[in-house]
Amino acid sequence: MKIESFALERWMTTWETQVEYDIAESGILPLTTNDLLDLLPVAERAATLDHLLDTRLGYSEAPGSHELRAALAATYAATGPENILITTGAIEANYLLFNTLLDPGDHVVAVHPAYQQLYSVPRAIGCDVRLWSVRAEGAHFHYDLDELERLVTPRTRLIVVNTPHNPTGAILSAANLRRVYALAESVGARVLCDEAYRWLELPAGEPLPPPIRDLGDSGISVGTFSKPFGLPGLRIGWIAAPAEIVAACWAMRDYITLSPGKLNDALALLAFRHRDKIIARTRGIVAANLATADKWFAEHAEIVAWTPPRAGLLALMRYRLDIPSRALADRLAGEYSVMLAPGDAFGYEYHLRLGVGQDPEIFATGLARTAACFADLRAAGVGLRAE
Ligand SMILES: Cc1ncc(COP(=O)(O)O)c(C=O)c1O
Repeated sequence: MKIESFALERWMTTWETQVEYDIAESGILPLTTNDLLDLLPVAERAATLDHLLDTRLGYSEAPGSHELRAALAATYAATGPENILITTGAIEANYLLFNTLLDPGDHVVAVHPAYQQLYSVPRAIGCDVRLWSVRAEGAHFHYDLDELERLVTPRTRLIVVNTPHNPTGAILSAANLRRVYALAESVGARVLCDEAYRWLELPAGEPLPPPIRDLGDSGISVGTFSKPFGLPGLRIGWIAAPAEIVAACWAMRDYITLSPGKLNDALALLAFRHRDKIIARTRGIVAANLATADKWFAEHAEIVAWTPPRAGLLALMRYRLDIPSRALADRLAGEYSVMLAPGDAFGYEYHLRLGVGQDPEIFATGLARTAACFADLRAAGVGLRAE
């Protein structure tokens, strides 16, 4: 398979080990194994640690442990463990789904901008991919359902959406998600909804829609422990889908990663059982960063504007400096040790992607240094674009 380069990942890997203030990250400040164990009562902590250390590191149950699948299944309507496949992150879940559901020539409608996998893998399979653009009005982004209606045809096999949305922070309301689902059903298509940012409602945001799996068998949900749980290093995600789709993805996975890591599966289950506490921690970090960001954007309104994410952990900020986003992001990383992702990796020039999930001190310093970079550029004669 020939596939286009994953622009954002290529850029991130250039800088992520070199900068001190990474405020581009799409996740929440990760937990340690000790943090996870500390969620347990003292007596249980020691026994759980022993159990983990004594776990024989053989191959694990190929579709993921029954306990983890049952626990996740219970978060969806009419879903059992046979409807869940544990995968190596949401990225493997999406990859398996595209490769089992799609054939060359299939008509696919995929959200754009997006986590690039969501349209590049269908393109690499040879599908006829139409992009459904998240509409930008100034610094505000929203889904345009009328536009989706124009793109979907009787040939459409799959609609690919992502809510809450990476990179803009837009969300589909419950009513709009139902509209997407009904539209897919009306032409016999399926909807793959990347719900990597599930459980990430924000203090002043909007309520999240139900997972698409709850709307019926034409809906496929993809989830992950990376974002809401702050555990991307576990590489544990999942598919929630009709049993025959899960079985097809599992059969394909036999050739790729075979099964999830045993300790990772066990730690994910531990995190899941204490998800209320983990999600409360996540919301605390995000609330602190949103307060810092609100103040910062107000102070620098002449240069930058944003709409805070309505859910999830990401937003695109729009800036007026007359410098392309790649050059600005490289300068921020190379000279100010700040990572903000360049909008051109998403097809949005004069934007930078900001993540609101990092350590609040790192976040505040990262923004302060960004302001210093803007001031230095202005002093060096970089002008402001007319808007
Ligand atoms: C929308 C979206 N889907 C999937 C992924 C992949 O996540 P995972 O770490 O679970 O593979 C990401 C990671 O940034 C993402 O933003």
